[in-house]
Amino acid sequence: MYRTHNCGELNIKNIGEQVALAGWVQKGRDLGGLTFIDLRDRYGITQLAFNMETAAELCQKARKLGREFVIQAKGVVIVRESKNPKNPTGEIEIEVTELNVLNAAKTPPFTIESDTDGGDELRMKYRYLDHRRQPLQNNIALRHKLSVETRKYLDQQGFFEIETPFLIKSTPEGARDFVVPSRMNEGQFYALPQSPQTFKQLLMVSGYDKYFQIVRCFRDEDLRADRQPEFTQIDCEMSFVEQEDVLQTFEGLVRYLFKKVKGIELPEFKRMPYSEAMERYGSDKPDIRFGMEFCDLTELAQGRGFQVFDAVEVIIGINAEGCAEYSRKDLDKLTDFVKRPQIGAKGLVYVKYNADGTFKSSVDKFFDAEQLQAWANKANAKPGDLLLILAGDKTKTQKQLNELRLEMGNRLNLRDRNIYAPLWVVDFPLLEWDEESNRYHAMHHPFTSPKPEDFSRLSEKPGEVRANAYDMVINGVELGGGSIRIHDKELQKTMFKVLGFTDEEAQVQFGFLMNAFEYGAPPHGGIAFGFDRLCAMFGGHDSIRDYIAFPKNNAGRDLMIDSPSKISDEQLDELNLKSTFNG
Ligand code: AMO
Repeated sequence: MYRTHNCGELNIKNIGEQVALAGWVQKGRDLGGLTFIDLRDRYGITQLAFNMETAAELCQKARKLGREFVIQAKGVVIVRESKNPKNPTGEIEIEVTELNVLNAAKTPPFTIESDTDGGDELRMKYRYLDHRRQPLQNNIALRHKLSVETRKYLDQQGFFEIETPFLIKSTPEGARDFVVPSRMNEGQFYALPQSPQTFKQLLMVSGYDKYFQIVRCFRDEDLRADRQPEFTQIDCEMSFVEQEDVLQTFEGLVRYLFKKVKGIELPEFKRMPYSEAMERYGSDKPDIRFGMEFCDLTELAQGRGFQVFDAVEVIIGINAEGCAEYSRKDLDKLTDFVKRPQIGAKGLVYVKYNADGTFKSSVDKFFDAEQLQAWANKANAKPGDLLLILAGDKTKTQKQLNELRLEMGNRLNLRDRNIYAPLWVVDFPLLEWDEESNRYHAMHHPFTSPKPEDFSRLSEKPGEVRANAYDMVINGVELGGGSIRIHDKELQKTMFKVLGFTDEEAQVQFGFLMNAFEYGAPPHGGIAFGFDRLCAMFGGHDSIRDYIAFPKNNAGRDLMIDSPSKISDEQLDELNLKSTFNG
């Protein structure tokens, strides 16, 4: 037997017991007569003690141990002289009587401690060593707990967990597909699923009624802190449901998870139509932990001879409370922030509403105090506040001001990680116009149902049609999204037409789904959560990377296994790809 206990469980109650422990050498301390080794495993750290006087040979052996050696130690549990109340095993140590080296280790490329000295790239390359650090292990433990509890809740609600294939053909979800060449079918390719969307709908046609899957999805898109090329969804679908049923069920899931895993009773989930979210926050995933809502100043500020304002579609501002004291330098920094290429504003107008009731603005030449007062009134600004104003094309300006609002929220510490403000954004538009391809795209995906009251407008005024689609947003993070689906073949056909598919194209790509709709498809709908994002939110982080055991870097590479990589000529040949790559 390698061990009788793990490294996190022995305490004062075990004094006098003969034990065996196994684990990794965290570090050693040599105090002349005494040598101590911190022995680590997943469960904790236990101190091993070696006495030069009573066991000189063992002590010599212990001194030769390097960091991360794998060892087994047998001995007796004794009371420790200098206790460490921070460590659950900190009151005891093991007086070692037998020491076995199970495996030697090279010196690790970075220190394996909670605060490590390893940079990102190095830790990614040696991810298996990074996993020995407590913070990462905590993240993975949290992920495990969330997946177990998710399964429990959905099982209680009568959902079946059903696996769907990974080698499929493309489903259009907006991103690019990863494709896999087929050896047996020359010149043909599978695609890895961007989500199991069509399969879960087919499972509803089959009569499974309630489906879920914690499932890997693949999307070849540009990466960010909250995006990975392969990520995990909690993917769900239900039959005979309306939007309200889906919202209730999954608000229930998230409530349950917060209660079980964090002991937090979430506040009521607010609901907000997409159009309102855009007007008030310029975002379809607003962070509603704080106010600073948009104020439309277009009418008040246009027609006064300030060309920058007169030539634009909208002028909108936010009120940064208590920021009238901002210096020239602070304001320059904010201006630089909105002018960054990622944000792209041309400039920033400010109005300081000074504590003494006077105004100082970057547009003093064009607007007098009375006019500025009218803006302040509209924005609910008080003396001491600062108005920050952007002008331009409506959609772009909303997006830019959203970024500025979030930045101000950060600067003013209004985005407290311990507060959770959940929100359902509902009534999304069904379609969005794409300038590049000069046609409508499905905002969610082509299987999303228009609102019944908007059916009639689908052919004439597609841009105005609202969808039975919803997103769950917490603290400005889109955790999940879904919709009620189309289950009628004719409506699905119309939808494809609006999206620019000919009947033939639609049949080739989605014939399997439309045909299935002819065999008794129930009304159905569902949702998918970004499971990695959920884990990061529970862990209090923005980046999903450290909640994924083996993530990719920003270039989509796995640095540990060095992938993607070239394949041999033989493999290329078998896959009928040789000519493509070797001319
Ligand atoms: P959607 O595309 O909105 O919907 O995806 C659902 C959720 O998955 C998460 N997500 C991601 N997480 C990490 N990395 C990515 N690259 C990534 N892309 C998406 C987000 C998002 O809210 N089939 C539909 C769902 C449905 O209609 O039922 C779908 O996939 O948190």
